Amino acid sequence: MTMLIPALPSPAPTGAGIFSTRSHACDARHLLGLEGMPRDTLLALLEDAAHERAWLASGAPNRSDLAGCSVMLAFIEDSTRTRTSFEIAARRLGANALTFSAAASSLNKGETLLDTMKLFEAMGAQLLVLRHSMSGAAAYLARSMGATGVVNAGDGMHEHPTQGLLDLLTLQDAWGGEFRGRRLAIVGDVAHSRVARSAIAGLTTLGVSVTVCGPGTLMPADVEMLGCTVAPAVEDAMAGADAVMALRIQRERMEGGLLPSLVEYARVWGVTQERVALMKPEAVVMHPGPVNRGVELEASVADSPRSVILKQVANGVAVRCAVLKRCWSAWRDAA
Ligand code: CP
Repeated sequence: MTMLIPALPSPAPTGAGIFSTRSHACDARHLLGLEGMPRDTLLALLEDAAHERAWLASGAPNRSDLAGCSVMLAFIEDSTRTRTSFEIAARRLGANALTFSAAASSLNKGETLLDTMKLFEAMGAQLLVLRHSMSGAAAYLARSMGATGVVNAGDGMHEHPTQGLLDLLTLQDAWGGEFRGRRLAIVGDVAHSRVARSAIAGLTTLGVSVTVCGPGTLMPADVEMLGCTVAPAVEDAMAGADAVMALRIQRERMEGGLLPSLVEYARVWGVTQERVALMKPEAVVMHPGPVNRGVELEASVADSPRSVILKQVANGVAVRCAVLKRCWSAWRDAA
């Protein structure tokens, strides 16, 4: 007998306000989160990212917008998309981009994160792009370091702001430039998802309604505090939606007893062709990656014309160009 995963509230925290980055929102040297980012700033970043996308697609030679800027890419947690797209963006704009490999570093000898990052500042890095498993790590460094601009490339279960921006850009294209009146369904592990938090923060600021759904064990208590509504079943969330975003299921959640089985998850919460047909005819399917095919998404959905997963990836480079330019410009103004 299969066990139905309940869609009941659990005591997991929303994260709303806990690691608030609002106090840094006006310091453009940093990008720590989309929470509290004004609508005009979001739209200006999207507009610039669209320009950068056209330039990237043209195949024109590298530019020198970031000439003289050293960008340290410190990925203390695994990444493919975010790390490589920041690298491409920084190099295409003429920065000196260096990737710090934590695996072979003195972090393993007990050196602290802050001491390690201060080394890079001493060596002349002006911008630091940080991926870290601890929520609040990027905000901590922005507070604790000197002049260095800090870009959050994903901190624990808090925020992933450049992913949020690339999701916004992808939806802006899919929706003909109009956010108001649209509705996005987010399906899956909302409790541990920095992708969901950044998407909800950015989209609600732009007037989009967001409906979340997922197993009760992976749904934060008081999730409505983030500005979204909760649906009891995936069919309720997706019916009439303008887009769906499936979140990655992390296998470690199963080992922690939060999920009975991936087969059961796919049956109850998977984004299938049948469920996609419940959305509006032009609605699109998103996933931040990496995709567990056959779990969060049916393979045929991931590869279907409705899927914009690779558009999200391509938009990631353009968004990171816009973000690096903004942070570098603010760093120079502050110097
Ligand atoms: N979406 C995302 O952050 O992917 P990576 O972990 O590969 O960077």
